[in-house]
Amino acid sequence: MKTEAALNRPRLPPAYRLVALDRVGSSNDEAKRLAEGGAEDGTLVWVREQLKGRGRQGRTWASPPGNLYLSLILRPDCAPAEAAQLGFVAALGLGGGVGSVVPPLVEVRYKWPNDVLFNGRKGAGLLLESRMDPSGGVDWLVLGLGVNVTSFPEDASFPATSLRFEGTPPDLTEVDLLEAFARHFLTWVNRWREDGFAPIRETWLRHAHGLGEAIEVRLPGETLSGGFRDLDDSGALLLELADGRIRPIAAGDVYYEA
Ligand code: BTN
Repeated sequence: MKTEAALNRPRLPPAYRLVALDRVGSSNDEAKRLAEGGAEDGTLVWVREQLKGRGRQGRTWASPPGNLYLSLILRPDCAPAEAAQLGFVAALGLGGGVGSVVPPLVEVRYKWPNDVLFNGRKGAGLLLESRMDPSGGVDWLVLGLGVNVTSFPEDASFPATSLRFEGTPPDLTEVDLLEAFARHFLTWVNRWREDGFAPIRETWLRHAHGLGEAIEVRLPGETLSGGFRDLDDSGALLLELADGRIRPIAAGDVYYEA
């Protein structure tokens, strides 16, 4: 039986500085404010509830208490083009973390660009926001992560789920997930720093959802159909069009044929 303190006070590796808040508009906005004020690499804003949670492409992210909402400030020493790779690093951190705390009945897969699926339905999403420094490098990057632990939206464009819905024990909390993610993210980000994107890309692809299948990619002014062939070195999705040409997609929404 867990004590109240264990439930409420996440134990994180010393590489992190925890900022724990009950309720904010968006943890990403809070983290961006802290980053602008000079907060250091590893500052992790964890909130129990968001009133204006944000998803990618201007969507809202339903954020009632019970799920995990965090925004991690990173100051990677890399070019902006490489910073997008950290979304894949974070997805592996979450996948590893989930694998370490939930029974094997939940299959974890990665959906391009930065979603994590539990048994084929969306259970987590990432929102990366960054600012460049005057010399063209990355000043800060905020990695926002939302994980559906106890609830999920019924009306999402891609079918959603939560760990609880997939059958994980009721005493598994967002704090357990936060601690597990923090540990596994550290392992993967150190791997990325030492060995670059190649091992990240390889592991992500091994557990990718829909690789080799027919997909539809919705871009701001256009929708493309083709085959999901690969990821390139920057993390762009390589789409094979009907005429055999390969088109790299840097950002967009992916849908799969039913
Ligand atoms: C997506 O799949 O569209 C990305 C969702 C990202 C949600 C997280 S929750 C914590 C952080 N704060 C936000 O406002 N958004 C991200």
